[in-house]
Amino acid sequence: MRAVDIIIKKRDKIELNREEIEFFIKGFVSGDAPDYQASAFAMAVLLNGMTARETTDLTLTMAHSGDMLDLSDTVDLAVDKHSSGGVGDKTSIAVLPIVAACGLPVGKMSGRGLGFSGGTLDKLESIPGYRVDLTTEEFKKQLKEIGIVLTGQSLTLAPADGKLYALRDVTGTVPSIPLIASSIMSKKIAAGAQAIVLDVKVGLGAFMQTLDEARALANLMIDIGKLAGRETVALLSDMNQPLGHAVGNSLEVVEAIETLQGGGPHDFREHCLHVCAHLLRLGKRAKNLEDGRAQAAKALADGSAFEKFRALVKAQGGDASYVDDVSKFPRAKRVEAVESPTSGYISQIDARSVGEASVILGGGRAKKSDAVDHAVGIVVHRKVGDRIQKGDPLFTIHANDEAKLAEAREMVLAAHQYSANFAQPLPLFYN
Ligand code: URA
Repeated sequence: MRAVDIIIKKRDKIELNREEIEFFIKGFVSGDAPDYQASAFAMAVLLNGMTARETTDLTLTMAHSGDMLDLSDTVDLAVDKHSSGGVGDKTSIAVLPIVAACGLPVGKMSGRGLGFSGGTLDKLESIPGYRVDLTTEEFKKQLKEIGIVLTGQSLTLAPADGKLYALRDVTGTVPSIPLIASSIMSKKIAAGAQAIVLDVKVGLGAFMQTLDEARALANLMIDIGKLAGRETVALLSDMNQPLGHAVGNSLEVVEAIETLQGGGPHDFREHCLHVCAHLLRLGKRAKNLEDGRAQAAKALADGSAFEKFRALVKAQGGDASYVDDVSKFPRAKRVEAVESPTSGYISQIDARSVGEASVILGGGRAKKSDAVDHAVGIVVHRKVGDRIQKGDPLFTIHANDEAKLAEAREMVLAAHQYSANFAQPLPLFYN
């Protein structure tokens, strides 16, 4: 068998069997199939798709491409969450401390930014000293001791996904249902999750643009979860406009901290409470969703969720003084407020353009080896449905480069659309 023949088969729309998928993925992990062949394979899958059977085989092969974590000696029930990727999506940074404060231990391995969508690891690394490279032993010890871990995907866990994810980011091969489903589910299965809440984003700033596509992705992941014996719930959440206000690494961490302190943007707080309710119910800490939501709201109000986040940052070597005083986060050289060019109702804030503007400012990567600038980004001040007057603050850009600032300003201005008549606010979730 040769890797090139498997690529040709997929290019020619011929279904791959399990042996071929295993051969290709094993070769990719060992280095026999180089990055350029994996990129061609990913593009062939993106263009020609995969059957549910092929996707399940790809997922299980990637899950078994490295170590399989067993958390049964660490927690009663291992829960996990994962988002399919969005703009301003700092949900894990707030949700994990909230559920941990409610008594549900949760350890999560997160990823880096992918295309226009930010990544939790890049965000957390804006806290000086915060380690995202915990060993399996450290992961288990911390989960047992403080009930919360938020780290990077260990190199030995689903390494096939780790390698492919980084390649897809820079080869235009992210928005593919089989590639996203296998990427997400392989690492959740390998990380030992017994119950999983999937936050499937839909809209302009998501990899799935329509509800039909998002439902197909959600159902595929639920089926794969069932097959692997993991209880899986998928939520469909809106990603037409950025979640919350902040887009950019340290700006998002600050917004998550404000939310953990009981403030933060209304939509982000509501989104987090809903995800927490599902996690607490799946993790058997709440009788039902209402109970879960009430417990989560209490953890925000009484400060216990914020304290959990402080404990997490300290345990992972981060400087907790940044959590206590967010003005310590480095500020970009240029912070420019942009005013609304018109009066009316905001009818659209294209989340993808805002995410792309943040990448242009340096908040994401154009090449695998690029470093991210933690200080840059955009804060949108309005949401769809808001009424605005000409000259009101519309958004603020944090930039370290004048030319990039000008480019981002034009993009984010163009991302906003207005209507003279009432524009309906966007829902947070869809059925
Ligand atoms: N999140 C992942 O983990 N993988 C994808 O492919 C997309 C979003």
